[in-house]
Amino acid sequence: MQKYDVIIIGAGASGLMCAAAAARRGRKVLVCDQADQAGKKILVSGGGRCNFTNLDVRAVHYISHNPHFVKSAIKRFTPWDFIDLLERHQIPWHERAHGQLFCNESAKAIVDMLLQECRQAGATLQLKTTIESVVHDTASGFTLRTSRGEYRCEALVVATGGLSIPTLGASPLGYRLAQQFEIAVYPPSAGLVPFTVQPVDKQNLAPLSGIAIEAVVSIDGVAFQENVLFTHRGLSGPAILQLSNYWQPGQKITIDWLPHHPIASLLENARHVHPKQQLKTMLAQHLPARVVTALLPATLGDTPLAQLGKAHIESVTQCIHCWNIIPNGTEGYRTAEVTRGGVDCDAISSKTFESKTVAGLYFVGEVLDVTGWLGGYNLHWAWASGWCAGQYA
Ligand code: FDA
Repeated sequence: MQKYDVIIIGAGASGLMCAAAAARRGRKVLVCDQADQAGKKILVSGGGRCNFTNLDVRAVHYISHNPHFVKSAIKRFTPWDFIDLLERHQIPWHERAHGQLFCNESAKAIVDMLLQECRQAGATLQLKTTIESVVHDTASGFTLRTSRGEYRCEALVVATGGLSIPTLGASPLGYRLAQQFEIAVYPPSAGLVPFTVQPVDKQNLAPLSGIAIEAVVSIDGVAFQENVLFTHRGLSGPAILQLSNYWQPGQKITIDWLPHHPIASLLENARHVHPKQQLKTMLAQHLPARVVTALLPATLGDTPLAQLGKAHIESVTQCIHCWNIIPNGTEGYRTAEVTRGGVDCDAISSKTFESKTVAGLYFVGEVLDVTGWLGGYNLHWAWASGWCAGQYA
């Protein structure tokens, strides 16, 4: 039986960060992972360039049943702390829209940096290791039975991430361990994920596949202005991914396709200049013609501008500024970037990330009920929570 001070399950973003921080404090640390490579999700993140943080990280960018939980960690570990780390390792980066920070070259630089930090601090990494059972007793701490033998530790850090992209090593082990120790788990579901649409909408929208339009999408007072992309399954693009974090099955979403141009005044002007012009021709100056055809009832689109009555104008306004659709569902974990729900933050200390009921048991990263917006917020949460836990585990 090998003994460690700290064992971390999961060599992803939060686990590696935690391992380096704990080992720097002189703790004897083992990180184990069932995958054959560390940081697989980091490698695919940001289209291979890793959107590693955001210049503006605040609690409002996270969704959790405990909206205050993230505040302490994101105050103690800021985007600038991560940037400092990159600069020490001479990893070049750049800023894109909305304060998103990306690597100039490859996400691999970030994984290599974390592995080097772990190595320099003296943490041990063991891949291809399956966890068979975890037993805890107050006197001897945690005993892990694994495919590579038995291990004992004082502190156990669960950094197993969410359920998205099972082919990258995702598993529900973290939720199961929480439940084993009687810690509540909010039901997980796919987040930052495209919507699929009902068969009747699919017929109408599928021909638009590939078209992207900047729009305002909203649900119950939450709104995002970014691109909406039509896909052959439904709707995607950054605006839709953001909204998916807030969506519940059966809920309708509303899209304003022309947020910068009030349709009533556009029509008013156009009617005087081109009274015989068909409505669809006029709208095609502002939106792709195929989209106009799909959004408007055919008879309305064919109507000359001069013949548009008050009811017609209301109907056009509804179709363009207040277009409603009830998604059929989402594409699920196969394409989701994150998992909503997870380990109840009320059961975890926001300072140390230790369970309030089981001494020595820690949860960090996406396994917790914390879901960030698109834009580097999820990785920032992984770094911040991992680093904070590493100061105490
Ligand atoms: P993470 O998933 O990184 O690590 C968990 C580790 O636990 C994995 O290595 C896994 O193999 C291991 N594990 C799981 N079960 C186990 C078990 N039973 N036994 C042993 N090991 C086990 N975020 C962002 O901020 N910017 C971005 O650009 C992107 N881009 C992006 C693209 C794609 C395609 C995806 C899927 C996700 C993103 N994300 C993102 C989200 C981001 O990658 C994610 O939130 C963090 O990696 C979460 O870090 P964790 O450490 O919590 O889990």
